[in-house]
Amino acid sequence: MPTRLEPLPITRPVFGARERELILKPLETGWVVQGPYVARFERMFAAFTGAAHALAVSSCTTGLHLLLHALGLRPGDEVILPSFTYVATANAVEYCGARPVFGDIDLATFNLDPAAVEALITPRTRGILAVSLFGLAADLPALADIASRHGLFLVEDAACALGATLDGRHTGQGCVASVYSLHPRKAITTGEGGMITTDDAALAELMARLRNHGAEATDLERHQSQGGSLLPAFNLLGFNYRLTDLQGALGVAQMERLDEILAGRRAGAAVYNHLLSSTYTVDVPAVPAGYGHAYQSYVTLFRGPRGHKPGLGDLEELNRQRNRLMTAMEKDGISVRQGTHAVHTLGYYAGKYGLEPADFPQSLLADRLSIALPLYAGIDPQDQARVVAFLGHPERYF
Ligand SMILES: Cc1ncc(COP(=O)(O)O)c(C=O)c1O
Repeated sequence: MPTRLEPLPITRPVFGARERELILKPLETGWVVQGPYVARFERMFAAFTGAAHALAVSSCTTGLHLLLHALGLRPGDEVILPSFTYVATANAVEYCGARPVFGDIDLATFNLDPAAVEALITPRTRGILAVSLFGLAADLPALADIASRHGLFLVEDAACALGATLDGRHTGQGCVASVYSLHPRKAITTGEGGMITTDDAALAELMARLRNHGAEATDLERHQSQGGSLLPAFNLLGFNYRLTDLQGALGVAQMERLDEILAGRRAGAAVYNHLLSSTYTVDVPAVPAGYGHAYQSYVTLFRGPRGHKPGLGDLEELNRQRNRLMTAMEKDGISVRQGTHAVHTLGYYAGKYGLEPADFPQSLLADRLSIALPLYAGIDPQDQARVVAFLGHPERYF
């Protein structure tokens, strides 16, 4: 059994002198609400992702809500999304009073299976909310094709996808907009935060007003203009979904090191891929041809000690084994997590829509058998070997 060493976190944000330097700037000027640093952060984010516009928001969740609201999603509408994703994806649809319609995933990629989508389209379907999970872009070309043939919008929950590429370009192809998360489990972080990218100027303009109470001008514009003593016009029912300039300053510093962070994560993933290449007890994350994985998480699929293809028949036993293995790793100071959850099995959704766990079998398998391993830029390969030692002989811990 491996000996107990330093605790290994699931992830570790990269902060240094530059973050400390920039985060003090808003304190020095006194301008701490959305202002010049948020604007600079947005320009850097747009340049990195190749989008025409980037809008910072208070989280990916509020960004998804803002986007769906701006697209006019209303009660009675339906949106198709994967059943294996973080609960916030579906919640954003619920906030609009619309119905999330779940589609199963492809277990190899953990992303929405386009083959499942067409059968879910009804006269009430307004759009597809694809999720590029764990840093791997969803099959956006296939989904964009379905969307355009049926007159639907395609948007991307890109919470985990900063740095993900498809055919040599940053993810987001064919989508009206993509929404990123800046939570500390993501490649870069502002504590909490989100970013919406889009090429649609009118949509960007609408979302910029909606995130700021529906005001026709921002606080900074009002501050800098003559006649700042008068409040601007409010012609829309908006929200307060702004990011602070303290977070904007942190975001600028994080963007400056994004390439380095992504390279570090990819290097760590390559070490796991190598160390796990002779282990048949887990599947390593797939990277289909043409895709570049950003490894927001390194999520494996547990196959059990005999390494056979898991199915619903042996799921209960395999799930028990996976949980015991994860408990043993946690006891040894190695932080592991199930990848994310099958949203249709969560109480709110199962109850409201009468869903059964086996309704989406691939999502259920992913929920019960996935194991995310510790990964961050600068992870020590010797620590990774410690992690892999558990996976090589899981039966020791059942
Ligand atoms: C796929 C997905 N969507 C949405 C979210 C929500 O992001 P945030 O915490 O920034 O609201 C997450 C967060 O983990 C996520 O993984």
